[in-house]
This record gives sequence, structure tokens and C-alpha cells, in this order.
Amino acid sequence: MDQSRTPYFDVLLDYVDSGVIPFHTPGHMQGKGMDRSLRDFLGDNVLAIDLTQIRGLDDLLQPTEAIAEAQALAADAYGADHSFFLINGSTSGNQIMMMAALNPGEKMALPRNSHKSAMGGLIMSGVQPVWMQPEVDDALHMDHTVTPDTVRQTLGAQPDIKAVYIVTPTYYGVAADIEAIADVVHERGLPLLVDEAWGPHFRFHPALPIDAIGAGADLVVNSTHKMLGSMSQTAMLHVKGKRVKLDRLKGVVKLFLSTSPNLVLIASLDVARKQMALEGPALLSRTIELAQSTRRQLNAIPGVYCFGEELKGQPGVFDLDPTKITITVKNLGYTGYEAEEILRRRYNVQCELADLFNSLALFTIGTTPEAAERLVHGVSQLAREDRPIDVFSPSGVLERRLKSGTYALPKIPPIRMLPRDAFLAKTESVRFKSSAGRICAEVITPYPPGIPVVSPGEEITREIVDYLDLELRAGVRMQGPYDAQLRTIRVVSK
Ligand SMILES: Cc1ncc(COP(=O)(O)O)c(C=O)c1O
Repeated sequence: MDQSRTPYFDVLLDYVDSGVIPFHTPGHMQGKGMDRSLRDFLGDNVLAIDLTQIRGLDDLLQPTEAIAEAQALAADAYGADHSFFLINGSTSGNQIMMMAALNPGEKMALPRNSHKSAMGGLIMSGVQPVWMQPEVDDALHMDHTVTPDTVRQTLGAQPDIKAVYIVTPTYYGVAADIEAIADVVHERGLPLLVDEAWGPHFRFHPALPIDAIGAGADLVVNSTHKMLGSMSQTAMLHVKGKRVKLDRLKGVVKLFLSTSPNLVLIASLDVARKQMALEGPALLSRTIELAQSTRRQLNAIPGVYCFGEELKGQPGVFDLDPTKITITVKNLGYTGYEAEEILRRRYNVQCELADLFNSLALFTIGTTPEAAERLVHGVSQLAREDRPIDVFSPSGVLERRLKSGTYALPKIPPIRMLPRDAFLAKTESVRFKSSAGRICAEVITPYPPGIPVVSPGEEITREIVDYLDLELRAGVRMQGPYDAQLRTIRVVSK
């Protein structure tokens, strides 16, 4: 196909050029009705193409014209049979995959370090989770991916599993042995669903891990906005093969879309695909080189460690995305949160995320050498300073654990109810610290990186209470709880 085309962006431009007089949504009428403060800042162009799905501009829910063509070009670029444009991120993509591939009550194997949107998928679909333990890296306090062996064992232990869902790469850019996993899953005739939110660029450079569609996955979601040039919220869902029914998938996609999608976002997907198809290898070569040289410079700073190739081959680390730089600061005596905050406050550098031990810097085709220098400068200054503040827990428990490197993640708790049933059940609020033994009715996710520690239908164990207590005292933000301070927690009524 002619990848230099941008059919959807073109029809929006044609609409503007033709000078149509609008009597349609959005109400700002191509900017004229918008308050000047925002309008002046945004500029007229973006508002001129913020249109609605009128004649000639196709319908994202039932595309037959320019959107259909733009999606076909995306499928061609990604090696998929069909691609769907999503405007609610991989969040909706994860939920769509589960609702399309499984029926309520059916079992799906998935890793415990799935993004919280996977829990949303379980709640909406009524699917029963069979959790797989990803490999845990105690030194980095990080979950990696699940191995083919773990998938094989899980399927062997529970032969009534109907689909396997995996996350690769992780937030930190660690990729699974997805080809081997696809073989294991397909041997049993099951579909493999892949959350490849962080890998929309993989397809376009040989130095990056193999992309999930190329590796044989059946359904794959990419957050185009995360690593490529499209706007926030944009994502793509790719399908290959016939293990998941296309009609069902199309029906579910529709459920997740607004009837008034933002056409600017759709155009940005169209253009980002063209950019990758035509210039991806060259742009990504530059990004990879910049990230690699920055990683080397950071690793030369005493006390700083940014993992790289040496990690490959460790359990759960089949391959790595070099464009992610995880800056491990624990040997400087900082938590990742502190480092992130100091980098922002003093050096005006903002990382993508921080966790207890690490701050993560994202390198994309938009990262400049000047920006990379600022990062290296900030980290080298940080490494020179005496640790100024002690934000560790007053009891010193966290600090002791950090230093001894034995900060253990809590075990996956026993599942007592389906996530959907617990989420929708009659519930009550109880004191968090005395909630051990109760069935949780909400998701508690320390964020980032957004991995649930306990979720609806699971028993709240003593270990979980202690772990979350520690994280709270270290200043970790919690997503999900009704009570943001987690003084209380919602549990299923007895
Ligand atoms: C692994 C993973 N999957 C899915 C998502 C959700 O993606 P989006 O923000 O595009 O909805 C995220 C977001 O950080 C993620 O890390």
C-alpha cells in the first residue's frame, strides 16, 4: 500500500479548504465560540479540524471511507489483518480484547503485573483471572515479564483456560519471549492477547524487540501516543488470524467509542503511522543511539545504575527496549520518588515515572540531544549532593529493607470471588489496618507503575496490609481506593 498517504488527515484539510459553513458540533464552531484565552493559545488550525463525523468525514464506529482506508494502511504497516483506531488509549484496548475473546465466567491467564486497565477488563467482561507470577527482580525491585515456562505450567494446571493475555514490554522496556509464548498458547488452540502499550515502535526497527503481531499474537494493543508522534489517548488495536471472531471484536470496539470521537486525534494516528512507515527506521536509529550514549554517560556517574544488555537472559528478560532508561538511584541513598522530584525542582527535568528505587526516562523520536544532556547534568548533580532529606518511614523499616535489598513484594492473595461480582457487590468501609481476612471490593494500585497489589474479589492478607502501609509511609501514591489516604478500605459485606 502507499504508506505516504494520510487519507484521514487529508479529508479534514479538504473540509477546511472548502470553506463549509458549519451548523454542527462541536459547539465552538471551529474555534469561533471558544473563549479567547484557550483559542489564542491553541491557534485556529487545530480548532478548524476539530469537527464531527459528518458526510465525507467517515464514522469511527462503522468506517467505510477515509477512516477505513487509514486503518487499512495501519494494518499494512503493522502486519495485521485489521487495525482499529482507539481514542481512549490502550486502557480501552485491554478491555476490548478481553470482552471480544472471552465469555463471562471463562478463565483467562494473565500476569500479576498487568496494567490496572486489565482489571477494568476483568470487571467489565466477567472473566475469571488465573494470575501468572511474572519474574521478580529483587535487586531492582521490579517485576519483569512472564516466561514461556510459566505460561505452559499455568495452562497445564488449568486446562479450562480459554485465552492467555500477556504484557510485553513492561513499563521499563523489558520484553518477553513472545514467540515462544505464542507457540505454547497456539499449541492448545487458544488466542494470545498482548498488551504491547509500550511497543508501538518495535515493528519499525530491527534493534528493537520483535513486535507482538510479528511474533504471532492474535490481538495486540499499542499506545501509539506513548512512544510515537500521535496525540494523547490515541492507540491501536491490531488483529491477526481467526482465533478471535472479527464480528464480535467489531461489536465490542463500538461499545467503547464515543459517537463524537475527537477527529484531531484520529488524524494524528493517521500521520504517526505514515511517519513510522516512511521514516521510522531512520528516526528510531537516532533515538536508539542517543539513548545508548546517554545510558553510558549515566552509568559513568558513581552510584548510578541504568540497566542494559547485561540483564538479557535473566528470568523474564528476553529482550530490552533501549529507548527506556531506568535510572536506579538506591545506591545514592535516594528513593526513585525523591530523585524524580529533585530532578524536576532543581533541574527542570521531568521523568516518566518513579518507583521506590528508580526513575524512568523515556527516549522517543522527539527527544533531543540537548534534552539528554540536561538529564545527564541533573543526575550527575544529584549524585554529588548529600542526601538532604530523610523521607523514609519514621520507623526506619523501609530504609533498612532498602539497604539490605530484601524489599519483598507481597504474594498474590487468594481469589474468593470473581472481580466483577466483588466490584458490584454490596460493600462496606472498614479500617484498612484491620481489614486482613476480608474480601476486597476495590483495586489498590501503588502508582506508578500501576500494578494492583490487591483487587476486587481477593482476600486482603496481613502481608498486603503491611506492604501497603510501608508504601504509604514512603509517600507512594495510591490509585483506586475510595479513601485516597487508605485509612479505610471497601470490602464485600458479610
Ligand atoms: C502496560 C500498560 N498497558 C496499558 C496502559 C494504558 O495505556 P493508555 O494510557 O494508553 O490508556 C499503560 C499505561 O501506562 C501501561 O503501562
